[in-house]
Amino acid sequence: MRTHYCGDLNSSHDGQEVVLCGWVHRRRDHGGVIFIDLRDRDGLVQVVFDPDRAEIFARAEQVRSEFVLRVKGRVRPRPEGTINPDLPTGEIEVLGLELEILNAAATPPIQLETHAADASEEVRLRYRYLDLRRPEMQARLRTRSQVTRVMRRFLDEHGFLDIETPILTKSTPEGARDYLVPSRTHPGEFFALPQSPQLFKQLLMMSGMDRYYQVARCFRDEDLRADRQPEFTQLDIEASFVDEETLMGLMESMIRTLFEEVNGETLPNPFPRMTYAEAMRRYGSDRPDLRVSLELIDVADLMDGVEFKVFAGPAQDPEGRVVALRLPGGGSLTRKEIDGYTQFVGIYGAKGLAYIKVNDWAAKGREGLQSPILKFLPDATVEGIMARTGAEDGDLIFFGADKANVVNESIGALRVKLGEDRGLMAEGWHPLWVVDFPMFEYDPNAERWVALHHPFTAPKEAQLDTLASDPGSCLSRAYDMVLNGTEVGGGSIRIHREAVQRQVFELLKISDEQAEERFGFLLQALKFGCPPHGGIAFGLDRLVMLMTGAQSIRDVMAFPKTQTAACLLTDAPSAVDDAQLKELALRLRQRG
Ligand code: AMO
Ligand code: AMP
Repeated sequence: MRTHYCGDLNSSHDGQEVVLCGWVHRRRDHGGVIFIDLRDRDGLVQVVFDPDRAEIFARAEQVRSEFVLRVKGRVRPRPEGTINPDLPTGEIEVLGLELEILNAAATPPIQLETHAADASEEVRLRYRYLDLRRPEMQARLRTRSQVTRVMRRFLDEHGFLDIETPILTKSTPEGARDYLVPSRTHPGEFFALPQSPQLFKQLLMMSGMDRYYQVARCFRDEDLRADRQPEFTQLDIEASFVDEETLMGLMESMIRTLFEEVNGETLPNPFPRMTYAEAMRRYGSDRPDLRVSLELIDVADLMDGVEFKVFAGPAQDPEGRVVALRLPGGGSLTRKEIDGYTQFVGIYGAKGLAYIKVNDWAAKGREGLQSPILKFLPDATVEGIMARTGAEDGDLIFFGADKANVVNESIGALRVKLGEDRGLMAEGWHPLWVVDFPMFEYDPNAERWVALHHPFTAPKEAQLDTLASDPGSCLSRAYDMVLNGTEVGGGSIRIHREAVQRQVFELLKISDEQAEERFGFLLQALKFGCPPHGGIAFGLDRLVMLMTGAQSIRDVMAFPKTQTAACLLTDAPSAVDDAQLKELALRLRQRG
């Protein structure tokens, strides 16, 4: 039907006759001449209809936004002064010689002319097929396709086999809630949709496949955020006879190749590494954004005996933490701005945000400081804080005091927020491997240990003996890849010995019976010669979000769901017929 894509045309096509197909991006009547910007996947081109050809001109007058056209025309240079340097086809235009209206369009509920999406997200999701016509969305999905292409090629070249694993399966242990599918043929029984292909990829290693990958859909019924969807895509990878070094090296190299080929950007080689303990201590987060240099500085020892209970309490509590965060130049913050940050840390459970403004410490000492809490702090404490933070005149020091997890989350988030607000974000990509994660984390509500990663992650060899006696200090062979504050991937070397796997289940208070019922197939497989193996999964949506500069993973998925896990386009989920329920041996309970 066509000879060229609209966006491909340029001065080299001068004088050529072309046939184009596409949508009417915009139509303008200019004193007897009609200009139509015709749009297809590759871009826009201006088509001109002049009144000399009366029949075609009359047809051009009928077209409206988003009509579908087929145009035959001749490429010509734009007249002097009408060249549009912002448009790749801006040096030329197409003189319309024939015009066929392939389809009309109702007035679209989304303005496609404007570059930025000014429609509400609700409208964008309901009319997703229109939203996806916007050049920005087209570019993002194209990048996404390029990303999987480069990854697939890289993995193919390194001997990985693309193998599919089931969607209708058994509950897997990533720790979110499962999506369940009732079985008709086994009344009262359910499949779970996979939270990841974790167990199947391990079984593939036990099957001797040696190296596996899959662009895999994962399903997790959890609270959603900008970087979480109930249904998302992992680039899932597993390899046999590898250790951390081999695997991490290969994965780094893949990510570097990806950014080079898709974005033309060079990432550091090698990626820096940091232990989990150091990341928590310095940044309050296991996915620190290294673009911001501000750091949490422990000051509990300086607060130990102070009168101020807000600080003294957590300082004496083994589970507490007291930190200072120095903001260079923060002395200029207004009361209102500080109140704003106090509210911000409140989101993360902080009960307040104490601060000291350093106005004139150099000349006046204590008198040169301004703070609502100064009166509670003895000289030695103040001097200790000043020395340890290295604060200078014009700075501000924030304080967080609470249970360690509250301080880490709130002040950790505050450092990134301050980085954004105060222009303290370094340019470029700052990848990081976080390593030496704890094996377990104590869940006080459930009164038991839970796996920080998942129960198949191997402990460090040296700690096998203390696994049972001191689970809290046991480190695992897990690693996360973090990029500019987003966890883009996570994986581990796995347990490949049955005895260790049973020991870990026991520690997690998974009884023999439960283990048998949930993971019996894995325990069984471990008996028949399981190779040492390990792997990783990358959040494809998150990677593409970062690479395209999108704000949410919804903007790099063709048909995402809302914050309440619904699809506005198809209206899923929806009620089903009684007959269907009956067939599945299900009855709905009265909603109370
Ligand atoms: P994990 O649970 O860390 O590991 O997931 C791996 C990566 O998947 C991405 N991710 C998500 N992306 C969008 N929406 C979500 N709801 C979501 N949840 C996770 C993140 C994360 O780093 N089976 C293990 C991997 C392994 O051990 O090999 C797993 O799934 O970018
Ligand atoms: P208050 O005595 O509660 O009025 O608090 C005095 C100062 O300490 C105020 O600036 C509060 O914002 C701050 N503050 C209160 N609780 C905390 C906390 N847990 N961590 C840090 N600062 C706090």
